[in-house]
Amino acid sequence: MPGNCIRGTDRESAHRLEEKVTTLRRTHRCTEFGPELIGQDLVLTGWVNSRRDHGGVIFIDLRDRTGVTQVVFHPDTSAAIFASAERLRSEWVIAVKGKLSLRPAESANANLKTGTLELIASDLEILNQAKTPPFEINNEAGRVDESLRLQYRYLDLRRPQLQQNLATRSKIVSRLRHLLEEDGFFELETPILTKSTPEGARDYVVPSRVHPGSFFALPQSPQIFKQLFMVAGFDRYYQVARCFRDEDLRADRQPEFTQLDVEMSFVDQETIITMMERVMVTVIQEQLGITLPNPLPRITHAESMRRFGSDRPDMRFGLELVDVSALMQESGFEAFANVARGGGEVKAIRIPGQATMARNELDKTREKVVRWGAKGLAWFQYMPGGEVKSPITKFLTAAEMQTFATQTGAVEGDLVFVVADKPKVVADVLGRLRLDFGHRLNLIPENTWDLRWVVDFPMFEWDEEGKRWSANHHPFTAPHPDDIGLLTENPGQARALAYDLILNGTELGGGSIRIHQRQLQEQIFALLGLSSEEAQDKFGFLLSAFDYGAPPHGGLAFGLDRLIMLLVGAESLRDVIAFPKTQSATCLMTNAPDEIAPRQLKELHIRTVVD
Ligand code: AMO
Ligand code: AMP
Repeated sequence: MPGNCIRGTDRESAHRLEEKVTTLRRTHRCTEFGPELIGQDLVLTGWVNSRRDHGGVIFIDLRDRTGVTQVVFHPDTSAAIFASAERLRSEWVIAVKGKLSLRPAESANANLKTGTLELIASDLEILNQAKTPPFEINNEAGRVDESLRLQYRYLDLRRPQLQQNLATRSKIVSRLRHLLEEDGFFELETPILTKSTPEGARDYVVPSRVHPGSFFALPQSPQIFKQLFMVAGFDRYYQVARCFRDEDLRADRQPEFTQLDVEMSFVDQETIITMMERVMVTVIQEQLGITLPNPLPRITHAESMRRFGSDRPDMRFGLELVDVSALMQESGFEAFANVARGGGEVKAIRIPGQATMARNELDKTREKVVRWGAKGLAWFQYMPGGEVKSPITKFLTAAEMQTFATQTGAVEGDLVFVVADKPKVVADVLGRLRLDFGHRLNLIPENTWDLRWVVDFPMFEWDEEGKRWSANHHPFTAPHPDDIGLLTENPGQARALAYDLILNGTELGGGSIRIHQRQLQEQIFALLGLSSEEAQDKFGFLLSAFDYGAPPHGGLAFGLDRLIMLLVGAESLRDVIAFPKTQSATCLMTNAPDEIAPRQLKELHIRTVVD
């Protein structure tokens, strides 16, 4: 509304003000010019980043999405303009006209892109005023309480770091689209109001007004729809797709996040990996200015679990797990021998140079791994002078101690931890301990980028609680052709045609070749404990589609937020998502989720029971 704009020269005259408000039209963004324009008149618009008064001269740092430029108001400009400049406060919105000049050498600011330049103001429009913000926009994020930042997210988003993160996000999404379109992919949309998709999390549901007692589910991924696009003959699909998962949140998980989702027909695993590798490597290399290996390295799931205790190995550092089960099986330490004889594993991790770790630190480490699910933690301290201190040396012979040192590579000064348990627990606990020490001891080199595929995932995982098999990736993933026989004999050993792309220990994306034959899909559903009625009820539309000429197909999805997070060096997804949710899945700005009016509940045929 023009009346909101108070032009410095004309503050007293409302109707003249109406005439003049549009006179200052932006000519440039705040930093998008250089010394070649010195002497010219520019009009800049933006927010007052700071104001300083120095001996009768007013300096404004004017900020927009490109950065900050200094504007100088001299008292001899015009009394009215100078008076307006004196009123300016942080975060007021202004348009300012002035002559671009070279700053005096002593006041140049090397930290600013336009640090050798300044605008000598000749005109000013105050476009809007602002209250004092609840936190300083220029402050480092870390010093402001995050919940306050999220409550005033529109102010938080003014911070240059977040502006840059979202600009990078926009640029990368655009590049990804371009690369995929070069390869003949169509961008197609899939529904948001839909039916449950099995990606392993809980669904967010939406009640139907017209169908009392019925609910839509928000998609955990577009998985089934993209497969149906293949049945429909679209051949190559992609989508920048919003996904919704009600799961326990961590720094790299949001309830609402974005995938770059891809599906292709008439391809094998190798083709998908090669094509997607080109796309990802291109954007990562362009963004970081690095060169990645071509082709990218691969590791099998089995090797990754064995060496790193994880299916998303961070291979930028060592601390690999060592299997000492065979040695311990024959030893006199019953706790370990029994685990090894009973099909469990005894594994060690050697931490160089930590032999003299204090007893309370060791105890704290034990408490931690017990919290993670271990039964205990044994250690061996290879003390300076040659003594080996350990709670279990008394159970091991000198020869066994010698073999242990050889197998783990332990030398004087080292600390070795040992865990004995079911293979899954050992992998999980030692995998986490490895990362923990990797970070604590600064063993992870900066500016290294380890991008690699993990391949040959198992088809199934044993769900101890439910006493049944669950799909490791999702139930539409095809088994490895060599392992079809294992589906009936030993499902736990069957490999899938599934693959993940890992960047520095974070799962960037994953996918698989899909089942495209009804009979095999039904067999997998049955293995997963779904009765044929349940399978029909949940996925009948997919099974029918397979009856009408489904081509062989496969694909994958990348976590777009995670990709951006890693590329901009952010610690949390919240720093690359414009309006993220908190750790407890709420939005502090809008106060969602929120109660709804009784009338609305009634319309939706819902009665809530809140204790
Ligand atoms: P998946 O479940 O592995 O596969 O998801 C693909 C990628 O999405 C990202 N991601 C997340 N990012 C942020 N917050 C979350 N809560 C979250 N959950 C997952 C990860 C992950 O690698 N339909 C299959 C893909 C396919 O088979 O084509 C799927 O969704 O980076
Ligand atoms: P105990 O004889 O039970 O007192 O155990 C001796 C040491 O072995 C202690 O340091 C225990 O924490 C450790 N320990 C016992 N069971 C396990 C296990 N399953 N894995 C690793 N360490 C264990």
